[in-house]
Amino acid sequence: MTESTVKTVPPVASPPVVVARGLTKTYDTGDSKVHALAGVDVEFHRGAFTAIMGPSGSGKSTLMHCLAGLDVATSGSVHLGRTEITGLRDAELTLLRRDRIGFIFQSFNLLPMLTAEQNILLPSQIARRAVDKERFEHIVDVVGLRDRLHHLPAKLSGGQQQRVAVARALLNAPEVVYADEPTGNLDSRSGSEVLAFLRGSARDLHQTIVMVTHDPVAASYADRVVFLRDGRLVDEVLEPTAELVSARLLKLEEV
Ligand SMILES: Nc1ncnc2c1ncn2[C@@H]1O[C@H](COP(=O)(O)OP(=O)(O)OP(=O)(O)O)[C@@H](O)[C@H]1O
Ligand SMILES: [Mg+2]
Repeated sequence: MTESTVKTVPPVASPPVVVARGLTKTYDTGDSKVHALAGVDVEFHRGAFTAIMGPSGSGKSTLMHCLAGLDVATSGSVHLGRTEITGLRDAELTLLRRDRIGFIFQSFNLLPMLTAEQNILLPSQIARRAVDKERFEHIVDVVGLRDRLHHLPAKLSGGQQQRVAVARALLNAPEVVYADEPTGNLDSRSGSEVLAFLRGSARDLHQTIVMVTHDPVAASYADRVVFLRDGRLVDEVLEPTAELVSARLLKLEEV
């Protein structure tokens, strides 16, 4: 599929939560320039679970980092709600990430000396933010951590640790959650638990989720998969299945 035939998402009433326009990122490595992002236009709507896929080096991590305000784009714009995050100062970006964005990483990033409950509550405490007790209880039940709340991470399985990280990312109902290979360190059963929960939180809590993954099965839990190649968005699949995603990836890697 060529750029000009890329399908667009069906029109939705609410404005998108995240909008990127003409996003570029160029690395100057001395004698050559690497165009990690070569003009990306993309949007993410409330309650949508989107996977970003593409061959190694296609720009997935760079795109996610620019969308999340973890990296600065060379040109173009990113809006989160009404805020244009491209152009914010470091201190403003730090607050924006803390208050409006959730993060889930491959490596869980839990503090080993804190219990599961303390880990989930930590970002709210650091931000001096009141915790919505009802939401906390709901999330703990949905991720199935009720009887593990007072355990240290070392006493939890990988899947349970990642569910703690997911609960932590979702507690504050951030406008968007960015997940970077969230199941990369999990066996397939724990991985599918985490993915099912992410999908459920998009459907039931209207959580907006953007996930980078290499795994077609993981991507099949999303509502939509967008494909990058050489820093450009070149394809999109709605209601993906693992088979469909694998086939599209193969096609991209052939070119
Ligand atoms: N700090 C950097 N300096 C120079 N080039 C970089 C830097 N970071 C990334 N790149 C280059 O930008 C391009 C996109 O990298 P990126 O990490 O976004 O790819 P990716 O799709 O996440 O790959 P992978 O699937 O391997 O994680 C690659 O060609 C990479 O080598
Ligand atoms: Mg990457």
